[in-house]
Amino acid sequence: MKILVTGAAGQLGRSLRLLLEGTDLVALERAELDIADLAAVRRVVGETRPDVVLNAAAYNRVDDAESDSGPAFRVNAVGPRNLALATAETGADVVHISTDYVFDGRASRPYHEYDAPAPRSVYGASKLAGEKAVREANPRHYVVRTAWVYHETGGNFPRTMLSLRDRDEIRVVHDQVGSPTYAPHLAEALLRLIETNAYGTYHMAGRGQASWYDLTCRLFGRLGVATPVVPVTTDEFPRPAERPPFSVLTSIQEPRIELPPWEDGLASFCERLGRLGEDD
Ligand SMILES: NC(=O)c1ccc[n+]([C@@H]2O[C@H](COP(=O)([O-])OP(=O)(O)OC[C@H]3O[C@@H](n4cnc5c(N)ncnc54)[C@H](OP(=O)(O)O)[C@@H]3O)[C@@H](O)[C@H]2O)c1
Repeated sequence: MKILVTGAAGQLGRSLRLLLEGTDLVALERAELDIADLAAVRRVVGETRPDVVLNAAAYNRVDDAESDSGPAFRVNAVGPRNLALATAETGADVVHISTDYVFDGRASRPYHEYDAPAPRSVYGASKLAGEKAVREANPRHYVVRTAWVYHETGGNFPRTMLSLRDRDEIRVVHDQVGSPTYAPHLAEALLRLIETNAYGTYHMAGRGQASWYDLTCRLFGRLGVATPVVPVTTDEFPRPAERPPFSVLTSIQEPRIELPPWEDGLASFCERLGRLGEDD
């Protein structure tokens, strides 16, 4: 199976590259393929003829999107649409990654695939628009919602917390609860999904749930970081974009390809960080 990965320099992109090493893989970073450019997308898909295009490209600057929605919609809606159009033309499958931010976060139980989206941020709206565009343009699609993605490289929450470890204390929000997802675990699950030909919408995130506070305590506990972690409320950390207070994802869709518990993802993250020497 020939797979084309877009956004290959990101957290998920790198994870996919590693897993797909030695296979028939075309991995393109942003400089090599701008997914918002329809002509370029058509040319690359037409020339490389992949069986599956896996879109790991995204505009993830959630707060910036509130004041300037253009870039978010270009990358998160127009881009996936372009990939879906081009793959429909060549008969390929398309995989699009979406987010828990399509939900408003007011539920009291985990969100499944048939819950109604109601994004509260521009970023969430742009990702939802991307989902819709993909479904419309190519019936051979997998739309996969995930959440709280992190990897030992890249800008993400656990790495930010570690970078603050020299402070006297770290204040972390405890009233936002979600599904922390280790990017390599998501990558593995996606590669299993594309073997199924069961097109549709899926939720795939680290199993279980945690607040940002829980995640930080667990991270510091594993790495022996002694910096005190103080739980605070979202109100104490005003941000331009509204975050869903509860966005735990679960799946009721077959085939149910579950990720390991989020704690296992964090353990693997810490182990690999150690090997990279980044926890010194
Ligand atoms: N990170 C999270 O917490 C999270 C949560 C829920 C869902 N997701 C979704 O999961 C997927 C993977 O996320 P991630 O964390 O791996 O993202 P990431 O690390 O931010 O990587 C995204 C990559 O896409 C590239 N990109 C941006 N605009 C592009 C364009 N027009 N054409 C081609 N590439 C472009 C970026 O390049 P530059 O760096 O050069 O801009 C970056 O390398 C995304 O769909 C994301 O929305 C992520």
